[in-house]
Formats: sequence, C-alpha cells, structure tokens
Amino acid sequence: MAGFTRLFLSCFFTFGLVNTEDVQVQERLFLSSLGLPSRPRPSNRGPVPSLLWRIFKKSDEKRVESDPDPCTVPEYGVRGNIVRYVLDQGRVVSDSSSHAVEKHLFFNMSVLEDVEQLSFAQLEMKFKPDLSHLPHQVGQHTFSMHLYKVLRTSLKGMNHDSSRRLLLSQSVQYTHSTTVHFNLTDLAEWWRKPGKNFGLVLVLQSTPLDNQLDPVDYDHGHVGIPELVTSLVVVSLNPYQCKSRKKRSAYYVPVSPSNVCKPRRLYIDFRDVGWQDWIIAPQGYVANYCHGECPFPLSESLNGTNHAILQTLVHSFDPKGTPQPCCVPVKLSPISMLYYDNNDNVVLRHYEDMVVDECGCR
Ligand SMILES: *[C@@H]1O[C@H](CO)[C@@H](O)[C@H](O)[C@H]1NC(C)=O
Ligand SMILES: *[C@@H]1O[C@H](CO)[C@@H](O)[C@H](O)[C@H]1NC(C)=O
Ligand SMILES: *[C@@H]1O[C@H](CO)[C@@H](O)[C@H](O)[C@H]1NC(C)=O
Repeated sequence: MAGFTRLFLSCFFTFGLVNTEDVQVQERLFLSSLGLPSRPRPSNRGPVPSLLWRIFKKSDEKRVESDPDPCTVPEYGVRGNIVRYVLDQGRVVSDSSSHAVEKHLFFNMSVLEDVEQLSFAQLEMKFKPDLSHLPHQVGQHTFSMHLYKVLRTSLKGMNHDSSRRLLLSQSVQYTHSTTVHFNLTDLAEWWRKPGKNFGLVLVLQSTPLDNQLDPVDYDHGHVGIPELVTSLVVVSLNPYQCKSRKKRSAYYVPVSPSNVCKPRRLYIDFRDVGWQDWIIAPQGYVANYCHGECPFPLSESLNGTNHAILQTLVHSFDPKGTPQPCCVPVKLSPISMLYYDNNDNVVLRHYEDMVVDECGCR
C-alpha cells in the first residue's frame, strides 16, 4: 500500500497516520476517474487483442519523444482516448446442421460512460476454421454471411422480416484465418440509448463445394462453419480527460539530496496496490511525487504563486501561526493503461495527470 498512500497524501497529512478507510475512499475516487464503478475482478482474462498491444506500445514510445495530440487514435483516424474491445455476450441460436449457424450477437454498450463521445465502432469477426474438418480442396471454402440488425424482440413463430433488417450480405472465402470488419458506428451510438440494444443476428451458411451433388450426399458437400470470435472495437473520447499538450518534459527525475521542494522519484508498482489482476500493462510506472520545504525567500525555481511568496513571508515572522506553502505538482503528464473492465472487456485508455514532472510552492 505504500506507493498508493504516498501518492495521495497532501502536504498537511504528511506526518499523520493514514487509516484504511481513507485509503479506500481514495481508491474509489481514483477508480471513478478511470470510469470504473469498482475495482474490476476479471473472471475471464481473455487474450489481449494485438491491435491494442500495438497502440499501447506506440503510445509508450511517443511519451518519450514529443506527443502532438495524445487524444487521437491514428489507427482509425478518429479522436479518442479510450479504445475498448467489447466482448460479444450473445449466444448461438441454432446450429442444427453443420453447415448453417445462426448466432445472436450482443455488445453491452453501458460500459461507456455518458460523458464519453463515441467516435468509431467496428465489428470484428474472426473466423478460425477447424482444419481437421477441411476437405482436400483448399481454396474453395466459402460460406455466405448475413448480418442483421435486430429491431425488437420477436416471439417464436413470428416472421423474422419484421423484426430484423439486413445490414450486410457477403460471401466469405477463407484459407487459414479470415477476419471481416464492419463499420457499426451509427448503430453502436443508437445502442447507447436505453432500451434500444437488441443486438445483431449473424447467419452463416456454407456453400456446397459441388452444385451437382446428389441430394442424399448433401451434407458431405459442405465444409463445417468455422469457429467464430466476434468483438466490437469501440473508440471514444472523454473530453474532460483529454487536454492536448504541446510538449512533455523529462520522464525520470534525478535523485539528489535536498530538502527543498522538488519532484522525488516514486515508482508505483500496481502489485503493491493489489491491482495486478486487472491492469494488464504497464505493471507499474514512475509517478514521482512532490516533497520538500518552501523556505523564505521563495526562489523563482520553486514556481511559487504571489500568494505563496507572501505566505512564506508571513511564515518567517510567525512560524507557529502560519504554515509554509505546500509543495505540490504544477506540471503532470499522461500515461496509457491497458486493463480489463468490470465486464472482462480489454480497454486501452489514455490517462491525464499520472506523472509528476514539476513541483511548485502553492
Ligand atoms: C451491461 O453492463 C452493466 C454494467 O456494466 C450491467 O449493469 C447490465 O446488467 C449489463 N446488461 C446486460 C444486458 O448484460
Ligand atoms: C464509419 O461510419 C461512420 C458513420 O456512418 C462514418 O462517419 C465514418 O467515416 C466511417 N468510418 C470508416 C473508417 O469507414
Ligand atoms: C519550476 O518550473 C521550471 C520550468 O518552468 C522547472 O524547470 C523547475 O524544475 C520547476 N521547479 C520544481 C521545484 O519542480
């Protein structure tokens, strides 16, 4: 807990003991600034999509260089500081035969907070053919894919046509592994409204390899429907957590003994805070903290406000009645984090004000 406690201590409590209740309040406050109602306890730590790893690594490199606008996602050419892989919570409706599958897709959009502006949503369908079922004619494995938007819940026996609308119809050919993408930005925005998200229906049908086949042998002319992993990639922007910065300053703060106000090196290991089970990366980071005295006369390098300059002056006359100004962060910089949210989705998020770059007397 040491890192977590120290990070949130203010100048006035530096010498007091911290009780666990206060720490819990601080943890809740911090999680809520990350858009999380409680500490995620992922039940299923699924694989991290390679795209998110790529963006994460890039943003980490960008930190050290200069960063023109941290709140865009160049991979999709849109504004955003949060990229989520929202898992499909739908289920297979029917797979009565090996060559036709109907699947309900459902993406819980309430993981997005109301303040977030959705900039892009894309359905990702990854087909992984079961190679053991593939016949010899490699290169001919095609199936038809129909994607419907569900307009309302339909009852058994009801005509499907009135309850769903075709969005996409295409033939998919695969050899080893195939991914189909489909832009769902408008629909995903619609799904955020309460009571509007009925999900999608995906119908896959494999096409016969040979149209001349004997009807009795019909099943043998088909290739099994491949295994399917669907997710919705959602890019959004929380405008309150995204301020563009012109440049960032030094990442590492040199350690030099002095009791004057300045940044001190603090590495926060997420294991110390008990967060290693939901934070994927980084495992920790150099957060730093401000500590030291704000003595009279306050020199320019201490970045004091006029108020702080006067306060040190008064303090020099009346040390008991008026405290020294506080040594606090005056310039902070962002980091990116990759984690599981409360619904087991993998989220990449850009966080402002995570690293202390400069301190000042305030
Ligand atoms: C969607 O997720 C929220 C919490 O993130 C949960 O309260 C709600 O029940 C979920 N809805 C469905 C339909 O699973
Ligand atoms: C996705 O669809 C939205 C809304 O129709 C459109 O504005 C946007 O340009 C599309 N994005 C891409 C990358 O095709
Ligand atoms: C005050 O700001 C300057 C740059 O504006 C910086 O170089 C210096 O380190 C800061 N002082 C402290 C105590 O961080």
